[in-house]
Amino acid sequence: MKALILSGGTGTRLWPLTYTWAKQLLPIANKPILVHIIEKVVRAGIKDIGIIVGDTHKEIEAEVGNGSRWEVDIKYIHQSSPLGLAHAVKTAQPYIQDNDFLMILGDNLLEMELHTVMDFFYSSSSNACILLHKVSNPSEYGIAEIDGTSVKRLVEKPKQYMGDLAVIGVYVFDKAIFPAIEEIRPSFRGELEITDAIQRLIECGARVSYQLTSGWWKDTGSPQDMLEANRLVLSGITDTSEYAACNISTSAAGLPGEHSISLINSVINEPIAIAEGVKITDSVIGPYVSVGREVTVEKCVIENSIIMEGTRLENIKGTVSNSLIGKNVIIRGSLKDTGSPSFIIGDKGKIDM
Ligand code: DAU
Repeated sequence: MKALILSGGTGTRLWPLTYTWAKQLLPIANKPILVHIIEKVVRAGIKDIGIIVGDTHKEIEAEVGNGSRWEVDIKYIHQSSPLGLAHAVKTAQPYIQDNDFLMILGDNLLEMELHTVMDFFYSSSSNACILLHKVSNPSEYGIAEIDGTSVKRLVEKPKQYMGDLAVIGVYVFDKAIFPAIEEIRPSFRGELEITDAIQRLIECGARVSYQLTSGWWKDTGSPQDMLEANRLVLSGITDTSEYAACNISTSAAGLPGEHSISLINSVINEPIAIAEGVKITDSVIGPYVSVGREVTVEKCVIENSIIMEGTRLENIKGTVSNSLIGKNVIIRGSLKDTGSPSFIIGDKGKIDM
């Protein structure tokens, strides 16, 4: 079985962070979302991974490489423009050929491992198998109606309530999906929807099965979703070595030299992730904070936030909370009330004071 990860598209809901950067490369617990996904696919035993890329292909390729670090083969498939998930699959047909494949969206994170859905696809002799998750806002997703072990109907972002089982962006297909895509037309949002292609499969008598997800799932499309995904991933970390200093539980001064992290007169409230080259002085960090490489924090209290690499935060009054702070940002307070703050903020920046 091959894997297809969809990392084209645009990330408008995450502007300005995604003006200059692919949304799939934003960090959750200091690791790009896309890398979390690749590692899950690798753990499922898949060795051939195709990644759909669009305008942001250069930075994705530079970050991920050819797969050798996971001992798999990664190929990039260029999609001319984001014309829909089914269009992406059609674009990948020369790569997939006649193989069965696992498809996963490059901006969705889930707790469950993927081999169960692959095993069920084979044991149930299905042409397609999808993962479903109960949601409270069904009009924002593809929604499935089920009957026994089969999917009976699928609608993309239904305007009228038809159930609360959302398609969560993990699909296993055999080659029957390709002719089904040829028979669909663009949807109300102008995209070739994979939901419509699967509906077409059902109408043609194919067997479409499903599995309910166990554990959490997060579409990381908005800042609040990113922060929640960060909390969920940090809460579940068991191998702390991967996340550098996230197991520090003292108000310690100085950490093992190999991590080159400097913690002076500061308190760490777990869970957190701290990358290399970070300097934290006279501050309280955590819980649920990811601090990227070469970040400097001085006299700040930070919780539930993602601070990306190269950023510098100093003397901020109050607690910094629910914040997504991009790369190489400088925020410098005075601790005294000067009454005249000064800002240099890029387009679409957001400050809540
Ligand atoms: O998050 C789950 C939902 O994902 C499902 O419930 C929907 O059925 C499914 O259509 C999809 O909806 P979204 O509107 O959230 O999809 P989005 O446009 O965010 O794209 C998902 C990923 O696929 C994202 O990493 C970008 C990539 N993509 C998207 C399009 C439209 C591509 O690679 N090519 C594309 O043409």
